[in-house]
Parts: sequence; C-alpha cells; structure tokens
Amino acid sequence: MVFRPRPNHPYAHAARLPDEGEVDLASILPGEGPIEIEIGPGRGGFLFERAAAAPGTRLLGLEIRLKWSAIVDERLGKHGLHPRVRSLNADAREALPRLRPDASVAAFFLHFPDPWWKKRHEKRLVMNPKLLDEITRLLVDGGELYVQTDVEERAELYEAQIGAHPDLEPAGDAPGSARMAENPYGARSPREHRAIEDGLPVTRMRYRRKPRQPIGA
Ligand SMILES: C[S@@+](CC[C@H](N)C(=O)[O-])C[C@H]1O[C@@H](n2cnc3c(N)ncnc32)[C@H](O)[C@@H]1O
Repeated sequence: MVFRPRPNHPYAHAARLPDEGEVDLASILPGEGPIEIEIGPGRGGFLFERAAAAPGTRLLGLEIRLKWSAIVDERLGKHGLHPRVRSLNADAREALPRLRPDASVAAFFLHFPDPWWKKRHEKRLVMNPKLLDEITRLLVDGGELYVQTDVEERAELYEAQIGAHPDLEPAGDAPGSARMAENPYGARSPREHRAIEDGLPVTRMRYRRKPRQPIGA
C-alpha cells in the first residue's frame, strides 16, 4: 500500500521516493562516487559525520519517521550537502525492493535498529531475512553491511540471521567473526555517541557481500 502522509501533517512535505515503481539510485543521488545507505538515520548525525569523513561518497538515509527525515534533509541542504547526501522518508522494507540497479551500493549501515524486544513489537522490526535479500541484491561484490547495537539480545539475533545468509560472510576483527571492537567509518550515530557517554557496551558487526558467481559458472 502506498503511504501518503495526512496533507495537514506538519512534515507532510518530507522528501520521499516516487510513490510506485522502480527507482534508479542515480536519480536521487546524481554524480559520481560510491553509494552508501543508512537505514533509520533518526536525527541524522551519522550522515553528517560520514559526509565529512568520506567526501567522495554519496549517502542516502531512509527514515520511517516523517519529522526526522524532513528535518535532517532540510539541514543537509542548508549545509550544502545536497544532492550528494539525502535523508528521505521511507519504510526501508518497502523502499529497498524498488531500488535499482543491482550491485550498486558499497555499504549499508544499521545503527541501533529495533531497540524493542517485546513480542508485540515483532511486526515493527526492520531487520528480517527479506531485507537481507534486498541488501545483498543491492551490494556490490565485497560491499559491506555494518550493524551495531547496545542490546546484546539483538546482536545475537542479527548474528544468527545474517550469519545464515548465503551471500554474506563475516568481516570483523578476527577471521570467521563479524564482531569489531571499533566503528571503522570515522563517523558515529547519535545513539552511538550517547551509548559511549553512558558507558554502555556496543556490539559492532561487519559483513561482506560474497562475490557473485559469473553467469554460466
Ligand atoms: C533506535 S533508533 C536509532 C537512530 C539512529 N540510527 C542512531 O543510531 O542514533 C532507530 C531508527 O530507525 C528508524 N526505523 C525503524 N524502522 C524503520 C524502517 N522500517 N525504515 C526506516 N527507518 C526505520 C526509527 O524511526 C529510528 O529513527
């Protein structure tokens, strides 16, 4: 079902993908440079810090909350970062299947997704096997999926889900493990800054997309 905000919603003007059909990433992020996608940027701090750390990279945030997607995209524009960096209002579970072309994204970031753990919240979860299929379709060979969380139970769930995906392999600090002691991207998300300030342990995991088999191999 196509999501349309109430016309009188204070953030109804938030930039979104076209309502239907396939969307070429180059139409949202024109220009050159690797493309990276953050799912659920929230207040957007990672997009700004990553834009500074990787000035040749194009960045797209997909944020389900109208208010924050709109505020962050407006701030990105004011800082002169459009069109290299955008924050669009989208449910990533609906948006990713529409993005094209395959094998065009260098990295996906999920910083502190899905903090809820009650049974009734399960339908809200962004991470699921279908999302992982879309992420691996969009990743270039060797492209990265980075996930971090301060909920240990979630980290274990992600390791089980992502570890079971045939197209992804762990790419953490030690061979065979996805876990990393530090965030290697020179940029932190707002919740990551807060977790560090509060002394909360953060579990960081990185995976790499396995090379595709040549057609006919
Ligand atoms: C716990 S917050 C973390 C925010 C930010 N990543 C950080 O680390 O500071 C999770 C974010 O994911 C967003 N989110 C949840 N489900 C989503 C979905 N299906 N598509 C896009 N964003 C989603 C929420 O609105 C929220 O901004």
